[in-house]
Amino acid sequence: MSVDVVILAAGQGSRMKSALPKVLHRVGGKPMVQHVIDRASQLDNAKLHVVIGHGADQLREALAGQPLTFALQQQQLGTGHAVAQAMPAVGEGVVLVLYGDVPLTEQQTMQQLVNIAAQGKLGLLTVELADPTGYGRIIRNERQQVVAIIEQKDASEAQRAVREVNTGILALPAKALAEWLPQLSAENAQGEYYLTDIIAMAAGQGMPIEAIQPGCEQEVQGVNNRLQLATLERWYQQQQAEQLMLGGVTLADPARIDLRGEIEHGQDICIDINVVLEGRVKIGNNVLIESNCVIRDSEIADGAHIKANSHLEQAQVGAGCEVGPYARLRPGTELADKAKIGNFVETKKARIGPGSKVNHLSYVGDSLIGQGVNIGAGTITCNYDGVNKFRTEIGDGAFIGSNSSLVAPVQIGAGATVAAGSTVTKAVADDELAVARGKQRNISSWQKPRKA
Ligand code: UD1
Ligand code: CA
Repeated sequence: MSVDVVILAAGQGSRMKSALPKVLHRVGGKPMVQHVIDRASQLDNAKLHVVIGHGADQLREALAGQPLTFALQQQQLGTGHAVAQAMPAVGEGVVLVLYGDVPLTEQQTMQQLVNIAAQGKLGLLTVELADPTGYGRIIRNERQQVVAIIEQKDASEAQRAVREVNTGILALPAKALAEWLPQLSAENAQGEYYLTDIIAMAAGQGMPIEAIQPGCEQEVQGVNNRLQLATLERWYQQQQAEQLMLGGVTLADPARIDLRGEIEHGQDICIDINVVLEGRVKIGNNVLIESNCVIRDSEIADGAHIKANSHLEQAQVGAGCEVGPYARLRPGTELADKAKIGNFVETKKARIGPGSKVNHLSYVGDSLIGQGVNIGAGTITCNYDGVNKFRTEIGDGAFIGSNSSLVAPVQIGAGATVAAGSTVTKAVADDELAVARGKQRNISSWQKPRKA
């Protein structure tokens, strides 16, 4: 059976005070609506429809290239009206309504609602809140059956006392929804077409209504302002930290790690405080990551040690490597096993062979470096002439003296030595010594200048 998922995302979210549509604000580095899309698209036979209105163009752009359709809601006339905009594209099966600003609903909860709807019933996600203010209240009859939802603004004193509220998330057979949506009226306190009014229609026509509850409140937590966004972010990060720890990662402080993406990891990893992991990160066994590291879209193999304040982006770090402190590995850095990158070293598009060392204050870009190479302090690969980039190649066992400039394109042979302070512009053959620096002159009886 087909499942049409209608994700409401047309509202302005004015309380965010933002030029960015609310649903594009991020939780765990990912737009809220993308969380909803990712989870919903894992449902069997799901077709996704996103109802857009405010910031429609920004949403189309942000979600481009994904298997979903957009339904434009020109004017925001209410949640019922919003769902109606998606109906022309909806099939014969069941419809699941989700919210772009409720990012963390579990796929399993969605599946439960779909299963209820597949049996010809209306599945409703409700939650008991200590403070139900602002929410639609769940009205049950004397047999405890759900018979209606009454919005806060339309509710009587007695109805407002009800603490079971509507999360907004529901599922039902498409056919019934298509029949009921046109019957909604806007004669209520807010002058809106409330989706919630279909509950009373379902009850009136004898469609069974089954209310289920989420595993936790955060699953149905909507975001209306940046305070709620931050609260949900912290909760999400806490969940991820717990998963890491249960999976064999020691965290110095689970409240001081942020994971904004996907992590694949081994065991016996230690992560110190204030580490940010972004995008796709893969970490092997026995890896030590010291404090204040930012690691984005990178792979770190077994036994590597990333020292404090290092930044890695699209980098591959081999087994047993040492990196940092204060190292910056930029995209295209590949460190073979046991390579060492020390403090204040920047690398970019650089393959650095096994056991090679770049220990201090260097820039190594567009470079291919063999094994057992020693790059002295302050070495710069001059890879850019202002227009084009060129490559530097350094053979196995070469020794580059401190404060050398290697003007690319240039090759340094295996076992070659470059004297400290050289500016190398020509190839150096295997085992040769290149000295390319001003000759030292010592002037005896030098008269120091005196004040005039
Ligand atoms: C809605 C429910 C309420 C529930 C609450 C949970 C209705 C009438 N009320 O109230 O029972 O307790 O959610 O948070 O459904 N939207 C559109 N187009 C519209 C109107 C809304 O896309 O024309 C989207 C909004 O962007 C938002 C969501 O639907 O993501 C909910 O709309 P909102 O106006 O916040 O509904 P509530 O008044 O909170
Ligand atoms: Ca709301």
